[in-house]
Amino acid sequence: MYTIEELKKFCCKCKKCRLSITRTNIVFGEGNINANIMFVGEGPGYNEDMQGRPFVGKAGHLLDKMIEAINLKRSDVYITNVVKCRPPENRNPFDDESKTCLDYLRWQVKLIQPKIIVCLGAVSAKNLINKELSISKQRGQFVKKGGIYFMPTYHPSYLLRNEEAKKDAWDDFKKISVKSSELLNDNK
Ligand code: URA
Ligand code: SF4
Repeated sequence: MYTIEELKKFCCKCKKCRLSITRTNIVFGEGNINANIMFVGEGPGYNEDMQGRPFVGKAGHLLDKMIEAINLKRSDVYITNVVKCRPPENRNPFDDESKTCLDYLRWQVKLIQPKIIVCLGAVSAKNLINKELSISKQRGQFVKKGGIYFMPTYHPSYLLRNEEAKKDAWDDFKKISVKSSELLNDNK
């Protein structure tokens, strides 16, 4: 079994898909490696590609605020993406790219062993929960798979464009908070 640092070193040299050609930096993910909650976005954008860190632009700022709204800090959770390299012009990752890159996410999940995985947006939810999932119809409902509770919710970039959806996202985050406390109490 690799450590997370070993996995990161390995991933930072990755050329397994075409996104390696256009990336500036790999965005492996960061946070608490003992986190109970993991957030998974779609893929790095411009700012993330420049800095090599996940969710550091406008959407990241909103995500930070949402995490703080459930009384957590960014450093309490682990944040990463389906693909670790920026898709050109922020297009959605192609299926072969996500499929290849998901090996890294699987390792991250094995090492971190989160109790809850929050899928931010349709690309994340479809890749992690079910290819047929509709984010507008199925957001806000936990799906339990392999002992982990997956919560599909809106991507923060969507919330920046659709203010009216923030209320639903807030409901989803409250559910995440409640579930997280329940699971922690079960362990006592
Ligand atoms: N959007 C994502 O999906 N991931 C990031 O890291 C930043 C923006
Ligand atoms: Fe490797 Fe993933 Fe980057 Fe593709 S997106 S080159 S699989 S790290």
